[in-house]
Amino acid sequence: MSHDFLSFFTAWMAAPRRVGAIAPSGTALAELITRDITADTGPVLELGPGTGAFTYQLLKRGVRQRDLTLIEYGSDFMRLLQIRFPGARVLWMDAARLGSAQLYQGTPVGAVISGLPLLNMSPRKIISIVGGAFSYMRPGGTFYQFTYGMRCPVPRPILDRLGLRATLVDRALLNVPPAAVYRLTRRPQYRLLTRDAAPAVDADGSPAAKEHRASEECVTLA
Ligand SMILES: C[S@@+](CC[C@H](N)C(=O)[O-])C[C@H]1O[C@@H](n2cnc3c(N)ncnc32)[C@H](O)[C@@H]1O
Repeated sequence: MSHDFLSFFTAWMAAPRRVGAIAPSGTALAELITRDITADTGPVLELGPGTGAFTYQLLKRGVRQRDLTLIEYGSDFMRLLQIRFPGARVLWMDAARLGSAQLYQGTPVGAVISGLPLLNMSPRKIISIVGGAFSYMRPGGTFYQFTYGMRCPVPRPILDRLGLRATLVDRALLNVPPAAVYRLTRRPQYRLLTRDAAPAVDADGSPAAKEHRASEECVTLA
């Protein structure tokens, strides 16, 4: 929508580092970042939705508005999102506060979709955001992040510290500018740090027992 271009451009003029783009994402990128999402994904947390380019695709994928929580720091965007997605939970907050915000009971979130400009953020802020988001994520849950850069915008030391791995989903070359989407998931030994993922068999010497010991080492080191 041309109105969205104007809203974006105005917001970018006022706060270029926070907004991080002069225009909303295009359809190719929105389709790519939501590609794995289905009606069965369950609660979805979207960070930095802006005017809702990814949010509309999430609804097309079958996500219900009541399963959506939208975290947006721009007050004009936040008001627009409230009007556009009246059944979703729209929160005006800094995504760096996710960890202390107690957004959910337990860990129900199936996916996080992030449009945040992580390349403009400090390592400390990235840790707060990504770590906070994973604190709500169920076992097997995935964090999707887009970037205009050539590499994953979450640097390797941060992935190591949070026990995550990143894989490239694909590039959206038709987006202006071209962008890439990365998938962040917990490393296998960290899966055991969540309640539901305890090993089924824990006999001495079995792979499950070894993996279990590895996870205990991670807990000790954390
Ligand atoms: C690059 S835009 C992406 C918007 C939208 N997802 C899209 O793809 O068109 C980044 C968005 O993140 C929001 N944002 C930036 N920093 C934020 C923060 N710390 N917490 C929440 N939202 C933030 C901005 O206001 C903006 O809406």
